[in-house]
Formats: sequence, structure tokens, C-alpha cells
Amino acid sequence: MPSSPPIVSVEHVFKSVTDSTGTLDILRDIDFTLGARETAAIVGASGSGKSTLLGIIAGLDVPTRGTVRIGGEDLFALDEDARAALRGRKIGFVFQSFQLLANYTALENVMLPLETAGRRDARKAAADMLARVGLGQRLGHYPKVLSGGEQQRVALARAFVVQPQLLLADEPTGSLDFATGEQVMQLMFELNREQGTTLVLVTHDRGIAARCERRITIEAGRVAANETTAFDEAAVPADPARAAIGSIAP
Ligand SMILES: Nc1ncnc2c1ncn2[C@@H]1O[C@H](COP(=O)(O)OP(=O)(O)O)[C@@H](O)[C@H]1O
Ligand SMILES: [Mg+2]
Repeated sequence: MPSSPPIVSVEHVFKSVTDSTGTLDILRDIDFTLGARETAAIVGASGSGKSTLLGIIAGLDVPTRGTVRIGGEDLFALDEDARAALRGRKIGFVFQSFQLLANYTALENVMLPLETAGRRDARKAAADMLARVGLGQRLGHYPKVLSGGEQQRVALARAFVVQPQLLLADEPTGSLDFATGEQVMQLMFELNREQGTTLVLVTHDRGIAARCERRITIEAGRVAANETTAFDEAAVPADPARAAIGSIAP
């Protein structure tokens, strides 16, 4: 048994939604834990419940039954304000669609979580983080003039700038071309290693899933597999584009 509590503990989580046509069971008895620095890929078909699960781990959505603990704290025993505060302190989130604020510059987008946390050095810390993701020359740019890859790097800067214990990423390369997605992934794994963040990454890409220590397969709202054994890299289809890509410059 580890002496410190797991960073993420998902305990018998169920999620159902009911409308006039009946009840849909989206998640059924999801149960797993992740330790400090652990990296986990969530894989599964479209509609299997991956995004719903990530939203619940972030405390953005509420389970019908079950418990989620973040660093030992029971997320749904907290009221909404306390839950939002915990999220701001401990959890970063990266989405497929970037989700930057359109009327804020890159710098302002990254400053926001720092300001929420009451950090007086928000401007400098945000500028440093944007330099770290290679966007030191883009501080005053608005999202709409940035490429998709640049927007996702701003989103990574915004997520990592508060040094969260946990990073949740929902298909972060889903809107990017292969080469750009590969660069964003490389950067995400680097930041993750540097900061010692626990990572939960939803991905369709077997090659990316293979780079995580754990793979959790969701089928129709249930955990169908939870494996830490190494992927057979030979089983991952060769992609000529992958071989052509080196690591990106810092
Ligand atoms: N608020 C909701 N109301 C009704 N159905 C929902 C809601 N949220 C998700 N679903 C349904 O739950 C299933 C799982 O969705 P989702 O978690 O987005 O899956 P995934 O991310 O694996 O593609 C889908 O069938 C989806 O249509
Ligand atoms: Mg999804």
C-alpha cells in the first residue's frame, strides 16, 4: 500500500441521464485509482462515456452514484464553490477544441487561473510559461490569429501554469493534423514529466496510448480493461509520418 493517498480515486461511479424517452446509463460502476505521477490513457469507442468520466473527475459533472477523491479529498462532498476552488488548485484540463477565451490574448488566457488563485506574479508567471511552450513571441495575440497547434499550446500553458497535481486531457490532438498533434503530445509529456503531474488522457491514437503507463479501456460505460503491461509496439501500425518527426525545439 502506498503511504500517501492516490491522486485520483474513482470509486463505483455511475452516471445515468433520464429524459422523456427513458433512462440512459452512461457510466456503470467505474472504479480505478491513479498514483502520483502516473500516466493513464482512457481508450474506447466514440460514445462509450470517456468525456463524461473526465468531466466527473474534474468535478464539472456530478455522478449519479459513487465517489471521486482528488488527493484524498471527496470531490462531491464539497459544495460547488469549494469544488471549483479545488479544481483551480489541483486540476488542469485540456480539451479537443482548445476552449480559450476569444476576447483574451494568449497572455491573458494563461494569467486567468493564476489571478483566480490570487497570484501577484500572474503576468510574469504566465509570460514565462508561454515562453516555455514556444510562444514567447505571441503574448499579445488573440486565439483567432493563432494556428490550432498554437492555440493548444496556449491551452497547455494555461493548464500547467498553476502546477496542477492532475492533468485531464480529452482528445487534445483530435482537432490537429498528425504532425502538429505529435508536437503537442511531445510537449504535454515533457511538461508532465517536469512537473510530476498525474495524467489522464483520452485518446483514439494507439501510439499515444502506448506512451502512457496505464491503459483503461471503456466499453459501454464500463471498465473493460485496466492494464499496465507495455503495449506491443509492433502491434501499433507503422505510420510513415511518425518516423519523420523529431522532438520539437523547446
Ligand atoms: N447530458 C447528456 N444527456 C444525454 N446523453 C448524454 C449526455 N452526456 C452524454 N450523453 C451520452 O452518453 C454517451 C457517452 O458520451 P461521452 O461521454 O461523450 O462519450 P465519449 O467521450 O466516449 O465519446 C453518449 O451516448 C452520449 O450521447
Ligand atoms: Mg468524448
